[in-house]
Amino acid sequence: VQILPDAQALALAGAGADWLARRIEHKPDLTILVATGQTPMGMYAALAARVQAGTLDCSRVTAVQLDEYVGLEPGDPRSLSGWMERAFVVPLGLRNVVPLDDPATFTARLRDLGGVDVAILGLGPNGHLGFNEPPSGPDAPTREVTLTPESVASNRGYWDGLAVPTHAITAGMDVILAARETLLLVSGAHKRAILGAALDGPETPDVPASFLRRTALTVLADRDARP
Ligand code: F6R
Repeated sequence: VQILPDAQALALAGAGADWLARRIEHKPDLTILVATGQTPMGMYAALAARVQAGTLDCSRVTAVQLDEYVGLEPGDPRSLSGWMERAFVVPLGLRNVVPLDDPATFTARLRDLGGVDVAILGLGPNGHLGFNEPPSGPDAPTREVTLTPESVASNRGYWDGLAVPTHAITAGMDVILAARETLLLVSGAHKRAILGAALDGPETPDVPASFLRRTALTVLADRDARP
């Protein structure tokens, strides 16, 4: 667990970009499970700046979609695959993406790729990972889920007045926990209690993020989230 003293988003951006860039330099064809949400946006922008400057090459990296709402028309502005394209795939110059369309195809494609090297995750206000809502045990598979009221409320901030879909598909806990390494980014006082539960409380399906302690986990948190 690394606690960053500086202004929140900025500190996470630099430290997260350093962490991931080192891994891409070591393995240029890295397979990355990619969260959307607010927390990793600064980190993705910092990585994009390195790609623009020519100091980082992500062209052989594969992005794997972590979660998606169900029931959106193609081109809907709320699509999480669209968000991942705009924030990660295009600015980093990636050519390979594994979309989260249906669980069977997704699982087969991940198997062919040899699994996920690195998972980049945010922490849900209720301890969810992707959209593995509580209760989700460590074996929960890739599947369709109903979003909890907490998740709908936290996602409302993304879509400026548009309704938040109530159903989603998520990469399973089994996929997330099988990643060879995981980076969890956590920012803000509103995440303090749930980060404490995830790191210091019992491992429990009621806090899906608590199972991350079984993995090769790096947590980057700011002082507001982890005083
Ligand atoms: C988004 C995702 C979610 C978020 C989590 C934290 O793809 O998988 O689990 O990472 O809800 O969201 P923010 O970063 O907006 O606080």
